[in-house]
Amino acid sequence: MSGEEAAAAVPQPPEEENKEEEVQQETEALEKPPEPTYKCLVLAAHGGYDKVKLQVRKGSPTPASGQLLVRVRACGLNFADLLGRQGLYDRLPPLPTTLGMECSGVVEAVGEGVTDRKVGDKVMVMNRAGLWQELVVVPANHSFVMPEGMSFEEGAAFLVNYITAYMILFDFGNLRPSQSILIHMAAGGVGTAAVQLCKTVDNVTIFGTASGSKHETLKENGVAHPIDYRTSDYVEEVLKTAPKGVDIVLDPLGGSDTLKAFNLLKPMGKVILYVWSVCNMPLATLVQDLTGVKTHSCLITSLAVGSANLLTGQKKNLIALAKTWWNQFSISALQLIHANKAVCGYHLGHLDGEWELIAGVVASLINLYKQGKIKPKIDSVWPFEQVGDAMRQMQDKKNIGKVILVPETPKQENKEEN
Ligand SMILES: NC(=O)c1ccc[n+]([C@@H]2O[C@H](COP(=O)([O-])OP(=O)(O)OC[C@H]3O[C@@H](n4cnc5c(N)ncnc54)[C@H](OP(=O)(O)O)[C@@H]3O)[C@@H](O)[C@H]2O)c1
Repeated sequence: MSGEEAAAAVPQPPEEENKEEEVQQETEALEKPPEPTYKCLVLAAHGGYDKVKLQVRKGSPTPASGQLLVRVRACGLNFADLLGRQGLYDRLPPLPTTLGMECSGVVEAVGEGVTDRKVGDKVMVMNRAGLWQELVVVPANHSFVMPEGMSFEEGAAFLVNYITAYMILFDFGNLRPSQSILIHMAAGGVGTAAVQLCKTVDNVTIFGTASGSKHETLKENGVAHPIDYRTSDYVEEVLKTAPKGVDIVLDPLGGSDTLKAFNLLKPMGKVILYVWSVCNMPLATLVQDLTGVKTHSCLITSLAVGSANLLTGQKKNLIALAKTWWNQFSISALQLIHANKAVCGYHLGHLDGEWELIAGVVASLINLYKQGKIKPKIDSVWPFEQVGDAMRQMQDKKNIGKVILVPETPKQENKEEN
């Protein structure tokens, strides 16, 4: 036996054996690909901007039958997300929950039975919630293939705003050539989409409200009469130019503004109320929250109130809630008949069983996009890490067009461009 062989045959002390095991484990760990992770933005509790937390989850979800796995490249921020954060959006699942009603990305896997989508397709997706996530699993019919040339940011800005604007203008509003319309929040996501869609009809006169700093953009977009609702009375301003009123008012405000909208209509005019509603909050709960006094369940009336007027700060404002509810518009069938006017209500979140209807609208919108008649206007792009700043941008009324969130930090040149 050589000297070396003799040394190998000698039993090793236990520490040496452990060391060898450790080295082997480390080598194996290095050889194994790391477990995949994905980021998501979770609403942990209702309240201010800090309630939306960035989480990193392990693994990769698998699509079941009829579903898709999508790697998300951009997400849309909607007014409903601001309301949801404050506990004022009725379609949000119980907390904690991942926020996000729309996104765009690339199909990474398809579940059994999915024949009209394939791995690699670029898609836009809409869902009740849960899309502010790097990887999402969604029913295939909640996705729409993006047209050629559309960017992921545009894809994330398309569905909620344009479907809403299209359905309220054309399905309910029946907008026709030479009519006139008042569009509130005309520089925001839905507002910009509505203005572009109005321009697809000949000779429509558009009145649009927005903060004064946005009026140049409104004019460029085709709003003939921009109105700064913060410094002037928008009803007076409309009547100065159109003494008989307008044919259509798009009303995302609710409260006392709906009565103003109704009174601004010409005979045969329509007001389309499209607030994201807050419903089933028992009045007894509101009274208790406001006064601290516990009332009995005789106050069972529920609140169903409008949205934009409710958002007055970072947290839920119960006074604004009560005021909006108190001023809520109400009309009888007889009054409607005498006035020769129509009042319509629209809530995309409550159309979530109507995917065929929605697919028809999206097909029309994609055609308009391909013809260059509509194009989402992107206000700004924010990484997931800055979701609070993105929300602040919208809530501080700074945005012109759509606010976008992305899982990856945007490249400097894109940021500067935006
Ligand atoms: N029912 C539905 O299905 C449906 C679907 C989509 C959207 N909506 C509603 O449509 C409206 C527009 O939604 P969006 O997502 O496109 O948002 P957005 O218009 O981009 O919202 C932000 C803009 O709204 C204006 N604004 C008016 N009152 C505000 C307030 N109290 N707090 C903050 N901003 C206020 C601000 O601009 P200016 O002050 O300069 O005008 C702000 O820049 C919202 O009321 C939303 O709830 C409803």
